[in-house]
Amino acid sequence: NLSKSGVPRRLHAAKRVIVAKAGAGRYKVAILGAAGGVGQMLSLLVKMSPLVSALHLYDIANVEGVAADISHCNTPAEVAGFTGKDELAGSLAGADVVVIAAGVPRKPGMTRDDLFGINAGIVMELVEAVADHAPGALVHIISNPVNSTVPVAAEALKQKGAYDARKVFGVTTLDVVRANAFVAARKGLPLADVDVPVVGGHSGTTILPLLSKARPKAPFTDEEVEELTARIQNAGTEVVEAKAGAGSATLSMAYAAARFVEASLRGLDGDGDVYECAYVQSQVVPELPFFASRVKLGRDGVEEVVGSELRGISEYEARALEALKPELKASIDKGVAYVQQQQ
Ligand code: NAD
Ligand code: LMR
Repeated sequence: NLSKSGVPRRLHAAKRVIVAKAGAGRYKVAILGAAGGVGQMLSLLVKMSPLVSALHLYDIANVEGVAADISHCNTPAEVAGFTGKDELAGSLAGADVVVIAAGVPRKPGMTRDDLFGINAGIVMELVEAVADHAPGALVHIISNPVNSTVPVAAEALKQKGAYDARKVFGVTTLDVVRANAFVAARKGLPLADVDVPVVGGHSGTTILPLLSKARPKAPFTDEEVEELTARIQNAGTEVVEAKAGAGSATLSMAYAAARFVEASLRGLDGDGDVYECAYVQSQVVPELPFFASRVKLGRDGVEEVVGSELRGISEYEARALEALKPELKASIDKGVAYVQQQQ
């Protein structure tokens, strides 16, 4: 939660109540892949949002029990479960935000790109349904490899004549959440005050934390920059290895995705001061049609891509930015080509 200058601002309890009242129970959120590790926990967290009036949970299996379970929480959102392709349209009808968390996660030894073969098809199928049944919705894509699945989604929506670049997001909030946690711990800063923008993409060295732009301003030694950058870039793999075959990050991801859903809903609701980092269509780096940057979220999704953060970055970051370009470009091209080959 940031002020216009990019400095984190903490909402006072009173302001939270006002925000909640302004949009109380107005928004419908659909979560696709809701029976999964990310999906279940995300569904629970979104159920806790006072901005949500309806929560639609879709999966190919095992979602009715999740919906029944979550529906017993005494918060306003009405919960409904939808199982299998025949119920996909119903799950999407009238959605303001559609979150795609469907697909396979990594196991140790795999890269996110190893998931492309399965997840690209799943994302394409789901966004085509979004085009048909929730054409105005914001689409949050969690399914990996995000560097490619977002271009897949954009291209698939284009083919359906339903693409609005302001409304398609790769969820990279977990990179920011991790960067904030690791920097606060390393520098002994109060967690709530720390804000580290993370740009680029969501895989290995394409994840570029801008420690030079971290707030509050803190001096980092070269060694700290290298260690923190590597830790943030490898944090997903750290979890995959710790889970030892049982999947990848689910709980921290759900926390991060819930933060991004809430930010998007506040934007839709007219709060004029909502900024988050996300992987979106962008001209910030001309060679890279998709790039994670801080974006301003408004009534129609992305209101502004804040490119200014790349100005005045450190030499280390500038080198890392140059180095990430070929991999990120190849991942983007792979996603676009995948959809074009299906036609
Ligand atoms: P999971 O296997 O626990 O859950 C995936 C769910 O998707 C399952 O319930 C499955 O039934 C469902 N599914 C599969 N095909 C579907 C389809 N066609 N339609 C609807 N649902 C379908 O996996 P998970 O741990 O929840 O991870 C989900 C995805 O999120 C993975 O691709 C993972 O890599 C990604 N992820 C991304 C981030 C990020 O930062 N963006 C973080 C964590 C996980
Ligand atoms: C993450 O960053 O935790 C996710 O992208 C999941 C993964 O495969 O690492």
